[in-house]
Amino acid sequence: MRRVLINMSSTILTGIKPTGTPHIGNYFGAIKPALESVVSDGTSFFFIADYHALTTVKNPAELQKYIKEIVCTWLACGLDPRKTVFYRQSDVPEIFELSTILGNVTAKGHMDRSHAYKAAVQAGENVNMGLYTYPILMAADILLFNTNFVPVGHDQKQHIEIAADIAESFNAVYGKVLTVPEPLIRKEVAVIPGLDGQKMSKSYGNIIPLFASSEELLKCIKRITTDSSAPTDPKPTDHLIFKLYELCATKEKTDAFRRRFQQGIGWGNAKQELFDELNVYLTPMRVRYNQLMADYSQAERILADGAKKARKVACETIACVRSAIGIFPSVEGGTACGGVV
Ligand code: TRP
Repeated sequence: MRRVLINMSSTILTGIKPTGTPHIGNYFGAIKPALESVVSDGTSFFFIADYHALTTVKNPAELQKYIKEIVCTWLACGLDPRKTVFYRQSDVPEIFELSTILGNVTAKGHMDRSHAYKAAVQAGENVNMGLYTYPILMAADILLFNTNFVPVGHDQKQHIEIAADIAESFNAVYGKVLTVPEPLIRKEVAVIPGLDGQKMSKSYGNIIPLFASSEELLKCIKRITTDSSAPTDPKPTDHLIFKLYELCATKEKTDAFRRRFQQGIGWGNAKQELFDELNVYLTPMRVRYNQLMADYSQAERILADGAKKARKVACETIACVRSAIGIFPSVEGGTACGGVV
């Protein structure tokens, strides 16, 4: 297997779609691994893909709520704005300019083969052009920042491959202008099932909200489906209670918990012990989250500063792209970057 080498000069970038209230599955499966992929010497860009959310979220109040929640979640979970440029896609108009340009070097067949589009067609949904051209906008997100690596879940692999193909098509026509990105897929990330054993998803009503209060958290844990079999049967490691415990407790505690499981701990006790660990683990993040939500101006300042930094890079790239394709501004400040650089 090829090893991916992230070095000092690598740029990593990832986008976060604000389409729901973050749950514990998002944290262990996506947020935590993405934050761990930030290398202190390189450059990293994390952004809220708010225009991407439009394919599904059509209610403005809901969209605003999701954006705010997701911004505060990432900051509360440890995103450090001194190390990572944190911004909103909608604050960087050059992304949309690049997206328009890239559409012209993107084969239509590529969009036809996109998994998300095909799934929507198969489900008989009304497909809008936002969904159809979603991979082009995503390519613009990535290519504008000379990204080398994109930390994502496995479901996004095809999108990154499409972005790489689009970069290559552009470069084939105009010369080597765009950096060809690679996905950075963490194979060992935890997949957390929902309370009922199905995939954790809002639509199944089986989620544990990441920042539920202690009381709500306990209620959720009590709802975890168990049956009349003893905890030892099936294997403890297969059970959600054990999986979650392992993710938030030390190795020693986990070993001891496994032994108690094997000795036939009662489900009620197992749930109480899980709650105790998980609650201790989540409390500092929850406190920070609640502070950030209560005074959103703090987060807004971080986003404004992030947008400024992001646009500096964006404007440099878009100037190279414009010059490569032969489009030059007629008036000073006539580009989207006017006054920024
Ligand atoms: N499509 C991604 C998702 O659904 C979100 C996203 C948008 C993204 N633009 C991106 C991820 C650029 C990585 C890079 O999760």
